[in-house]
Amino acid sequence: MKRAGPPGKRGERRLRVVPRRGTDRHAVAATSPAAEADNHPARWSRPSVRTIAIASGKGGVGKSNLAANLAVALGARGARVLLLDADFAQANLDLLLGLHPRFDLQHVVSGEKTLEEIVVPGPEGVRLVPASSGSPELAELDDFTRECLLRNIGLLDDEIDLVLIDTATGVSQHVTSFCRSADDVLVICTPELPAFSDAYGLIKLLHAQGLARAPHLLVNQAGSTEEAEETAHRIRLVARRFLRLELEYWGAVPFDPAVPRAVRLQEPVVTAFPNSPAAAAYCALAERLWPLPDPDERVHPQSERLEA
Ligand SMILES: Nc1ncnc2c1ncn2[C@@H]1O[C@H](COP(=O)(O)OP(=O)(O)OP(=O)(O)O)[C@@H](O)[C@H]1O
Ligand SMILES: [Mg+2]
Repeated sequence: MKRAGPPGKRGERRLRVVPRRGTDRHAVAATSPAAEADNHPARWSRPSVRTIAIASGKGGVGKSNLAANLAVALGARGARVLLLDADFAQANLDLLLGLHPRFDLQHVVSGEKTLEEIVVPGPEGVRLVPASSGSPELAELDDFTRECLLRNIGLLDDEIDLVLIDTATGVSQHVTSFCRSADDVLVICTPELPAFSDAYGLIKLLHAQGLARAPHLLVNQAGSTEEAEETAHRIRLVARRFLRLELEYWGAVPFDPAVPRAVRLQEPVVTAFPNSPAAAAYCALAERLWPLPDPDERVHPQSERLEA
């Protein structure tokens, strides 16, 4: 899918996130929230890479486990996935994937390393852009540097089909900026009331900020399919009534003790316990996002695959 806007500099292989003042600075000078969303630098530079930001409002609802497991399940289906740990307060995707990166985004922001130098290979070909917890450089990242970072991630490699962004908890500008830069936002909610109201709060804020496309919804830690559908139904109803937004329901992941068990093993549940209900749910979402080509079809365009 081609995007409007200045072309990415695909020849520029060694990427730096340190802002280049001048022409790039004009890129972030948007006039309205909607224009800003359209004109976001992260959207210029990825002519064919689909980006999905995973967010929630409330913390501890299962974003990082979803990001890690969905990435690995997509990788197993042949998609080339880049996973960005954008939770700069509590970065943990490396632990969930059993990886031990030496360097992370902190070193990129400080100018010591390039993005290419910090990417670590993970299971099923997934590539992780790791972050570190509690780094002042990352915690205090200004808008301009964050936008340069997103743009450079888009330029990282031509061989990426999908970028998954695991965002931090809450509705900070840090979180909403990553959400607005993405093609799709997947909001995770649990059946608990606080998770419901925080998810709605995030959706409302993103809508007010001119998010280009309505977010999608996933219910995690549901006790049953009925409970998940009831939760999704309530959020969709409120968003339709008060925001005139049609949220698409991307399914549910059941409450499953295999998830924390896999976390303790530092392995994604889709590989540690592939027959568990949670693994099946993560794989079902991967199938929805990345259906395998129909054997009768000789060509299966990527654009069709990503219409979830
Ligand atoms: N489907 C599930 N069934 C059971 N436990 C789960 C499930 N999903 C996540 N958990 C557990 O919930 C906890 C929080 O998960 P996770 O770290 O993925 O959430 P998060 O939204 O990323 O949290 P944070 O806001 O701190 O970043 C973990 O201990 C994890 O094991
Ligand atoms: Mg997390």
